[in-house]
Amino acid sequence: MLQGWTVVGHLAFFPVTLDRQDAGWYGLAPGSVSPAHQRRGSGSALIRDGLACLRAPGAQDCVVRGDPLYNRRFGV
Ligand SMILES: CC(C)(COP(=O)(O)OP(=O)(O)OC[C@H]1O[C@@H](n2cnc3c(N)ncnc32)[C@H](O)[C@@H]1OP(=O)(O)O)[C@@H](O)C(=O)NCCC(=O)NCCS
Repeated sequence: MLQGWTVVGHLAFFPVTLDRQDAGWYGLAPGSVSPAHQRRGSGSALIRDGLACLRAPGAQDCVVRGDPLYNRRFGV
C-alpha cells in the first residue's frame, strides 16, 4: 500500500524466448491508464521510460502484444 500515492497506470514487460532460447528479447504487455488520468501523457511516459529501462541492461529488442495503432508511435 502506498499511502499518499495514487496508481494511475501500469505496464509490464516479460522475457521472450526465440526457438526456446533466451536471445535477450522482451515483450511489452498491454498497459493501462485509469480513465480519469488518460490523455495527459501518462501512457506514453510509461512506455518511453519502460523501454529506456529495458535498454539499460542490454535488451536486444522488444515485441508488443497490444493495439498497433497506439504502440506504433513508440517504434515497437
Ligand atoms: C491506451 C492508454 C494506455 C493510453 O493512456 P494515456 O495516458 O491516455 O496516453 P497518452 O496521454 O500518453 O496518449 C494519448 C494518445 O493516445 C491515443 N490513443 C489512446 N488509445 C489509443 C488506441 N487504442 N489506438 C490509437 N491511439 C490511441 C489518444 O488518441 C491520444 O492521442 P493524441 O496524443 O494524438 O491526442 C489508455 O487509453 C488505456 O488505458 N486504454 C485502455 C486499455 C488499452 O487499450 N491499453 C492499450 C493496450 S496496447
